[in-house]
Amino acid sequence: MFPALNLLLFPHLLLLETTSYSHALPLSNETDHNALLAFKAGLNYQSDALASWNITTDLCKWRGVMCSLRHKRRVLALNLSPTGLFGYITPSLGNLTYLRSLDLSYNLLHGEIPRVIGQLTQMSYLDLSNNSLQGEMPWTIGQLPWLTYLYLSNNSL
Ligand SMILES: *[C@@H]1O[C@H](CO)[C@@H](O)[C@H](O)[C@H]1NC(C)=O
Ligand SMILES: *[C@@H]1O[C@H](CO)[C@@H](O)[C@H](O)[C@H]1NC(C)=O
Ligand SMILES: *[C@@H]1O[C@H](CO)[C@@H](O)[C@H](O)[C@H]1NC(C)=O
Ligand SMILES: *[C@@H]1O[C@H](CO)[C@@H](O)[C@H](O)[C@H]1NC(C)=O
Repeated sequence: MFPALNLLLFPHLLLLETTSYSHALPLSNETDHNALLAFKAGLNYQSDALASWNITTDLCKWRGVMCSLRHKRRVLALNLSPTGLFGYITPSLGNLTYLRSLDLSYNLLHGEIPRVIGQLTQMSYLDLSNNSLQGEMPWTIGQLPWLTYLYLSNNSL
């Protein structure tokens, strides 16, 4: 995706990315790549929506992925709403240390919300609404310091 298009899709990130509250966070440029491939592998079905998520394509050009400008090759936002994803959300997403926006709404995701989502301390926008998620919302999500938008409706939580 082109950067300008990304800004249209994620307008709230423009401001966020220019603020400087980030400090040294662990994990490397490879971990985001591996975390997303594990997420893809954990799905039962993705209707070719994630065809660009392959090792020959640059991570920052994968569908729905927006990389950070400040932290090279780290994922800032993931927007896969709606792309017909069916399956569980893998805990690997907890490795996306710099993730600020996660939108997986309007898919067919089931199972529980991985607890590690509550460890993504940079998160400001989380939309998992309109899926078939079950169980309880991990309480740590409510403690995320920058979380401003939280949408979980239309699930079985
Ligand atoms: C990660 O960074 C290392 C060292 O800067 C580089 O050699 C490697 O190609 C990078 N990997 C990816 C997936 O960008
Ligand atoms: C990898 O993604 C690119 C971009 O969408 C696509 O053109 C290519 O066919 C894909 N490769 C494989 C092996 O799926
Ligand atoms: C997170 O990344 C580390 C380092 O690459 C890896 O060992 C670990 O398995 C990953 N965690 C998950 C839940 O995928
Ligand atoms: C999600 O949205 C679709 C289309 O808007 C709708 O058909 C479906 O019933 C919704 N699913 C849930 C769990 O609300």
